[in-house]
Amino acid sequence: MVKKAQKLREPLENRKGTLYFDGVSTRKLTEKFDTPLYVISESRIRENYKRLHEALTCNYEKVRLYYAAKANSNLSVLRILETEGAHLDAVSPGEVFMALKSGFTPERILFTGTSVRTDELKFLAGSNVTVNVDSLSQLDRLLKIAVPNILSVRVNPEIGAGHHSHCITAGKQSKFGLWEKEVLKAYATAKKAGVTRFGIHMHVGSGVLDVEPFVLALQKLLSIAKKVHDKSKIGFEFVNMGGGLGVPYKPEDKELDLTLFSEEVLSLFKSRVDEYNLGKPFFCVEPGRYVVYDASILLTAVNTMKKTPFKKFVGVDAGFNTLIRPTMYGSYHQVLVANKLDSPEKDTYDVVGPICESGDVLAKDRRLPKIQEGDLLAVLNAGAYGFAMSSQYNARPRAAEVLVKKGKYTLVREREELDDLISGQRIAK
Ligand code: LLP
Repeated sequence: MVKKAQKLREPLENRKGTLYFDGVSTRKLTEKFDTPLYVISESRIRENYKRLHEALTCNYEKVRLYYAAKANSNLSVLRILETEGAHLDAVSPGEVFMALKSGFTPERILFTGTSVRTDELKFLAGSNVTVNVDSLSQLDRLLKIAVPNILSVRVNPEIGAGHHSHCITAGKQSKFGLWEKEVLKAYATAKKAGVTRFGIHMHVGSGVLDVEPFVLALQKLLSIAKKVHDKSKIGFEFVNMGGGLGVPYKPEDKELDLTLFSEEVLSLFKSRVDEYNLGKPFFCVEPGRYVVYDASILLTAVNTMKKTPFKKFVGVDAGFNTLIRPTMYGSYHQVLVANKLDSPEKDTYDVVGPICESGDVLAKDRRLPKIQEGDLLAVLNAGAYGFAMSSQYNARPRAAEVLVKKGKYTLVREREELDDLISGQRIAK
């Protein structure tokens, strides 16, 4: 019996058994641009941004969304979000540079770096972006360079969460943020030095599907904000509760309840801000994953079929050099056979890449239609931390990226060539 074809979510679409993405045939794209290929849907990025923005602004009017550029810093992606009115979270001078190149003004950029070098602080001071300090060391060195008009402090709210231990960025084991006592000291120092405008920030971690950790951490953040306010007599222009909004990767994963998230977080925010006399600061979030994760697929061609006494392997041309999340975090990414969407699931396969390590497995024990060499696989939800974390490991040039929008496509990053592997290198005499 033929199993019913899978239900696909927009902008994925099944047209006569072939996968289309935002109105464009994946077959056509790979014929034109080869594989491995990241395909980014403009429509989906805009929808995700708008959905989140609306969910928050319906409960509080002063909201800012800082897009976390680390998730996907392709210039076209940044430009799309710039035109949506987003602000931007940058973690390195490189991300500041890219954001400026894509059209963000410095006022809309918040730099949240850790282990920041003094020359990087000079660059930031010269760029006029707002700096969110991550240590007293960073603050002291920044104030010696120049006293900024506006400054933010990253607080460790003592509660962390995340989909993997690598992605928990607050709590006892975390290197990020300042603990309460130091937070008070940081604001007092900055005020004394002449800073007049302030923000406050936290980020609990990444891939959080429950509302509770956000609420608990925000409570702590606001209680610290009150202490700062009382002690140093300063107000806050913004309160930034960080990113980390989780998304479903497995078909059975639950979704973060956006309405509940917005209601719970913002009712707490409004009542505490009132109670503590904190004025009317902007409420900020800085999502990366939520905005871009399902806005990209990774297309990869099958080159090898291999059977051992224990396994059936599908050898493809994307490995952990192209998408490292499965190897690095054990993350699950759904795989479709893009040219056989109407075929029934027939067999169980491991989808493996060309990297010479046993950990190079994109998908394990997957039920898929019968696969042959030449088939095209689509790895879904690859938009966040996909291309951004790719490398040239095993001397493999990085993939190309195409932007699609309602049936139209544009190559937005050329495929690297062999020459890119030796760029900047010289052989020692
Ligand atoms: N803000 C700060 C200060 C962050 O460190 C991060 C992510 C974000 C915002 C955005 O978090 P998001 O909304 O995307 O969860 N490579 C990992 C994720 C690492 C996240 C690092 N920081 C992964 O592929 O799951």
